[in-house]
Amino acid sequence: MTTESLFMCFLLCAFCVGAVRVGKDSCDVDLLVVYKLHVETHWSREVFPKQYPEWRPPAQWSRLVGRSHNSSYSLFRVGRTANDGLKMFSETGQTDGLVERGQGEDGVFDQFNGPSIPTGEGHSETQFFVNGNHTKVSVAMRIVPSPDWFVGLDSLQLCRTGYWVDSLSIQARPLDAGTDSGFTFTAPNWPTEPRQKISYITSQNPSHPANSFYYPEQQELPAIVTFRFYKIKLYQLSKNVNLPLGNNHVLAHNDLVIARQDDISNDVVPSIVRDHQQSRRAGKSKRRPVPCRVTEWSSWSACSVSCGIGEASRSRRVMKLSRRGGRPCPSLAETKWCGEHTDCPQRFFKW
Ligand SMILES: *[C@@H]1O[C@H](CO)[C@@H](O)[C@H](O)[C@H]1NC(C)=O
Ligand SMILES: *[C@@H]1O[C@H](CO)[C@@H](O)[C@H](O)[C@H]1NC(C)=O
Repeated sequence: MTTESLFMCFLLCAFCVGAVRVGKDSCDVDLLVVYKLHVETHWSREVFPKQYPEWRPPAQWSRLVGRSHNSSYSLFRVGRTANDGLKMFSETGQTDGLVERGQGEDGVFDQFNGPSIPTGEGHSETQFFVNGNHTKVSVAMRIVPSPDWFVGLDSLQLCRTGYWVDSLSIQARPLDAGTDSGFTFTAPNWPTEPRQKISYITSQNPSHPANSFYYPEQQELPAIVTFRFYKIKLYQLSKNVNLPLGNNHVLAHNDLVIARQDDISNDVVPSIVRDHQQSRRAGKSKRRPVPCRVTEWSSWSACSVSCGIGEASRSRRVMKLSRRGGRPCPSLAETKWCGEHTDCPQRFFKW
C-alpha cells in the first residue's frame, strides 16, 4: 500500500466516524450497521436451585428470535397482553406465528435468529442489521422447560443522539407471557383465560411458594441472561462502499455499559447508553466479571465394594458463585472405577 492510499483510507475512516454523527436525534439513514449479539445464560443449579430441571427436558433455552424495527413494531411489551405469535413462541418455542418482514407495513427491517442453548448455562451468538429508519431491536428466548416463560428485550434503541451505540450489555430477568397459569417449570399446560399482561417474574411474585422462581429471602432474582451488543460494521449505502471498521475510535469494545433491564424503558432512549466519550470514561470503572471459585477436591472415598469393580468418588464445594458473567462453576463431583475383577476373596469361602 502506498502512503497515498493509506492516507485515502484514513480519510474514508475519518469520514465514516463523522458520518455516524448527524443531526441531534437520528442516525444517518444512508448507513447500514451490523451488530453482533452475544447471549450468555446463567441458569445454573447453584444460582437457581429450586426445582432445577434435570431431565425430560433438562434446563435449556430455545433459539433466539430477533427483529430490528422502527417504532411501529413490537415483539412484546411488558404490561400488555401477548399476541398469538408470542403466546405460541413462549409456550412451545415455535416461531411460525410471529410477524415476519414483508407481512404488511409492520416496520420490521431485519429478522434474525440465534442458535438454541442445550444447557441452562451457555452462550450463543448472532448478528443483525439496523439502519437509520429502523434503529431498535427486540429479542426473545423461551425458558425450557416452562409454562410460558421467556427472557427478552423490547425495542432497545441503538441510535442515540446521532450515534450508533458501540457496545451495550444488559442483564435480563425472566418474563411471564401471561398465557399459561402453570407455576413450575414442568407444570402441565393450563391456559390462562383471559390472557394476563406480560410481566416480570420476581423472587416474590407470583407470591406463591410453589412458584419455581419464588425465593422470598432474596430481594431480587440474580440475572438469568446477559445480552451483549457490539457494533461491528458500518456500510454506507449510496456510495456503494463497504467499510468494515477495524478502527478503535469507532469500535470501542471495552466501553461496555452494564445496564439492568428495567433501566431500559420502552421508546425512551436509555439513560445508561452513553456516547463514545462518556462511555470511554465509564469504561474505566466497569465492574469485572467474577469467576466461580471452588474448594480443592476432597480425597477419594473408599471403594464402594470390597470385591470386584466398584466406584470411588470425590467432591468439592462452591466457595464463591460467579458474578457478572464470570466463568461458571465446574463440576462438583467426580467418580472413578476401583477394585479388581479378580480380587474376590469370597470365591475362596464358597462352601
Ligand atoms: C415503520 O416502517 C414502516 C415500513 O416498514 C412504515 O410504513 C411506518 O410508517 C414506519 N413507522 C414509523 C413510525 O416510522
Ligand atoms: C428511510 O425513510 C425515508 C422516509 O420514509 C425514505 O424516503 C428512505 O428511503 C428510507 N431509507 C432507507 C435506507 O430505508
